[in-house]
Amino acid sequence: MDIIYHAESRQFHLTNDQVSYIIGILPNGEPGQLYFGARIPDSKDRSYLINREFRAMMVGMPDQEDFSLEMNRREYPSFGTSDLRLPAYEVLSSNGSHVSCPVYDSHEILKGKPDLPGLPALYTEDEEEAKTLLLTLKDPVNGMEIVLSYTIFRDYPVISRSVFFKNGGKEELRIERALSISLDLPDHDYVWMQFSGAWGREKTPVHKKLSEGVTAIGSLRGHSSANHNPFVILRRENTDEFQGEALGMALIYSGNFLAQAEVDTYGTTRLMLGIHPDRFSWILKPGEGFQTPEAVLVHTAAGLNGLSQTLHSLYRKRLSRGYWKERPRPILLNNWEATLMDFTEESILKIAGKGKEAGIELFVLDDGWFGARDDDTKGLGDWYVNKAKLPGGIEGLAEKIHGMGMKFGLWVEPEMVNPDSDLYRAHPDWVLAAPGRPRSLGRHQMVLDMTREDVQEYLYERLHATILEGKIDYIKWDMNRTISECFSALKAPEEQGKVYHQYILAVYRLYERLIGDFPELLFESCASGGSRLDAGMLYYAPQAWGSDDTDAVERMRIQYGTSYGYPISSVGSHVSECPNQQTGRNCPITTRGNVAYFGTFGFELDLNKLTDEEFEEVKKQVAFMKQYRELIQGGRFYRLASPFTGNQCAWMVVSEDRSRAVFAFYRSLCRVNPGRKRVKLAGLDADRLYKAEGREYYGGELMEIGWEVTSAPSWDPEKDGDFYSRVIVLEG
Ligand code: DGJ
Repeated sequence: MDIIYHAESRQFHLTNDQVSYIIGILPNGEPGQLYFGARIPDSKDRSYLINREFRAMMVGMPDQEDFSLEMNRREYPSFGTSDLRLPAYEVLSSNGSHVSCPVYDSHEILKGKPDLPGLPALYTEDEEEAKTLLLTLKDPVNGMEIVLSYTIFRDYPVISRSVFFKNGGKEELRIERALSISLDLPDHDYVWMQFSGAWGREKTPVHKKLSEGVTAIGSLRGHSSANHNPFVILRRENTDEFQGEALGMALIYSGNFLAQAEVDTYGTTRLMLGIHPDRFSWILKPGEGFQTPEAVLVHTAAGLNGLSQTLHSLYRKRLSRGYWKERPRPILLNNWEATLMDFTEESILKIAGKGKEAGIELFVLDDGWFGARDDDTKGLGDWYVNKAKLPGGIEGLAEKIHGMGMKFGLWVEPEMVNPDSDLYRAHPDWVLAAPGRPRSLGRHQMVLDMTREDVQEYLYERLHATILEGKIDYIKWDMNRTISECFSALKAPEEQGKVYHQYILAVYRLYERLIGDFPELLFESCASGGSRLDAGMLYYAPQAWGSDDTDAVERMRIQYGTSYGYPISSVGSHVSECPNQQTGRNCPITTRGNVAYFGTFGFELDLNKLTDEEFEEVKKQVAFMKQYRELIQGGRFYRLASPFTGNQCAWMVVSEDRSRAVFAFYRSLCRVNPGRKRVKLAGLDADRLYKAEGREYYGGELMEIGWEVTSAPSWDPEKDGDFYSRVIVLEG
């Protein structure tokens, strides 16, 4: 891995044994993109990739009419000179001009990777793992300095990028758009993949062939959202899960975002990602700076599984931090679907006690333990225990749960308040609200103005005290509504464009303070399920509740879709009751477990209500997960058969040394007298013998011939009916 600088040609080659990223200074003095893709040998000069040509209607650069930025690939495109494609950033000068044209000023090559203060970011554990190029550009007219940062990692086909702006001039400058990354690709023979959905059906892969014009997704909801995720893939048309070229771009950020591909009239593609420019503006006084979030760029020639595996490993090892980073996650029991907010200490202890009997390790008390919170219309924000429900307080209940030999976890939703709460009655000014306009509600609640110091201090004090008193081991941090009327009462009119970004920075800051105080506390992020499951959150909370939809068939799809961008160790997945509370469907408890294993694993039901037979199955599931969770959560995950294209779903996890694997297949509906079907396994050692289900197979035969998954071989609908599934362990 290296960053090679060729002084004569003024070109930079960022390379490791998998990828090359080449930058050259263009004739107008700004950095241009010469190549990104699979590794190519280094060369002193690749200026032949710079285009000088005249096309009708084209605008050239001053004094260089044959050189147009529009005909070239740019590193960080501005708008307004000779390139009129959509820009990566825009700066408004005090004279009203949007034109900006910074040029290369200097560069620095560092070992390792600097932190991004206040923002989540990839990191290195020793400085030999990565190198960082800082390219400083300066605009001689308005004084804006822009530092483009690129890190190449030794062990990953990944470049991470971010941008720092500094007003080096004498007048105020306003940043109106500041994306984190822009990549100009020489063609548009790509299929764009986005991960879209809604509450309860998060992260469905959507495929669109790129063509002239703009393909874009984003969020203006104040959080990354279930509607679209800040992660996109461009794949070649013939790329599948196992072979072919693909690029992935992800934003390590949890707020508003824009992901966009523009195909121009000459068939080239500009792919960009960053903070959504709508409702964003940032004034920089002379000397002030602004740091964008970081974006990750991945390249693979090994198909979509290859791309996902890179992100899984990168996020697990170099984004998640601290005590829980790669530790097997505790098997938990959450009371939400069992009781909603209707519980007492006694009923909770009864549920927890049964969990202990099943071997569960962590009990989580969900919503309803504080204030007057008997339903979702009241109490939110009053982070004081409800003594009518829990007479001994949180510490009393926690002590009893700890006494049973389980860890204790608690639900909170710090960013929100019900109007019917003591907090709102005391501080109606603490919410985000547009002056003089009615305040919109979502789930009967408003959003606190997290940018205010007093709000942050209140929340920090309450959370800190509660965690301390209860010796709490786990926090589920929820967020159940989108932000509307994003206006902060304490800010001047010209500062309102900062609020969305400062809001999420304040959320990050609160997490950071609590992590600092309680380094062994496990956080699970949640936003009505997976509405804020993004790379930014993984820096603080190594796991996220995948979806409020706990139906096993639905979850199969959600977890399959989520696995494109996120490691399965980061996705909260529970066995819940039947009929399922979201779909009314009855799935066998085995299938509910077989889906939930491929995540952090837990239960969300009253185990006392199960039949003896079902409870025995729960005990077996807990034992199975304890035996295999290190392999499942830490191994290499392969998608094998997509539930989005057929009646079957299959996936597997293989240990790093390929000696063990867990393979699972699921069938939604039972078909009568079906044809035979096999699923080919992946990632095994072809010449190794694996024991599975009482016989031995070579890895090669399992990968080439496959495992028979024909429906209903026993002709017994009781046994092999709808929602049938199997999990098979392979021991080599
Ligand atoms: C939404 C979450 O996704 C649920 O799991 C549960 O915690 C509820 N909120 C509680 O209000």
